[in-house]
Amino acid sequence: MSNLTHPDNLEALQLFPLRYPWAYAHVQQAKHNTWFPEEIPLGDDLADWNLRLSEAEKAAVEFLLGYFNPMESVVTNNIALGLYPHFTAPEVRLYLARQMWEEANHTMAFEYYLKTLPVNRERVFGAHKDIPEIVAKEQFQVELTRDLLRGVDLGTEDGRRKLLRDMVGYFVVMEGVFFYGGFLTALSFRRRNLLKGLGSLIDWVIKDESLHLSFGIHLIGAYLEEHPELMTPAFARELHGMILKAVELERAYNRALLPQGVLGLSAEVLNQYVEYLTDRRLEELGFEPHFRTANPARWMAAQTDVPEIVNFFEARNTTYEVGGRRE
Ligand SMILES: [Fe+2]
Ligand SMILES: [Fe+2]
Repeated sequence: MSNLTHPDNLEALQLFPLRYPWAYAHVQQAKHNTWFPEEIPLGDDLADWNLRLSEAEKAAVEFLLGYFNPMESVVTNNIALGLYPHFTAPEVRLYLARQMWEEANHTMAFEYYLKTLPVNRERVFGAHKDIPEIVAKEQFQVELTRDLLRGVDLGTEDGRRKLLRDMVGYFVVMEGVFFYGGFLTALSFRRRNLLKGLGSLIDWVIKDESLHLSFGIHLIGAYLEEHPELMTPAFARELHGMILKAVELERAYNRALLPQGVLGLSAEVLNQYVEYLTDRRLEELGFEPHFRTANPARWMAAQTDVPEIVNFFEARNTTYEVGGRRE
């Protein structure tokens, strides 16, 4: 019997007594992360774009925005249509509702950037339909949601496994791996003193995403604790294989993102970074690391590691002040 899910999915939001204090702690942490895109001035980015960026650098920015922008709503769809109907625990729903707002805020943040800079909007908005490597990543995700929409009976092991596949595909692969080639590329501009507004925006998005990942790891763990029968060696192998398949999609994406090096970066460096991150995700799920690749971008570590769980239970983390600017 699960306390996370209940056949009556119209259970009212009666939060206390909490059944999953970690979920509520994530909500509290998320509140302190509140930010709005327009707090970030983009005048310098506009000047960089017009005067300092090469065509290859502009193409890389357009490519990564062309992936990020629609994916935010793919995540929102999955929460609203795939997860929220099944997870009935009030504090879990409270976080999912908060996460939906954050994903919508990310959509608006990228839209703010796209409308401020003279990017080729048609190319950016069409990327998730026109660029095969982006199409493939979107398909990987959407199929998981579609599978849930075809009907899930959580009274069966098969139904419960579908839900777990979706959680691993979204919280671990998408929020924990798929975004990071783009994040690394975007933040590399700031390291060259370029596109600092984009850097700030990505910092804030990463803070949200790492909380989403952390929440997802907790949710997966709690679900497995309530359904230990699901974790057979065969299913563990399947999930492991799914994560490695995602890495292949990511390699192809990185090659398309950076067909030539920019800013001292190359697809090879991004792929090493993805291998390093994937090992961290595997470990968080209780698997052995697979690649054992060193982090080629140590400077990213502080930004992308899952925040220490203990922080969630502290009264306040001052790096997340509402409206506070992060350096
Ligand atoms: Fe997001
Ligand atoms: Fe997210």
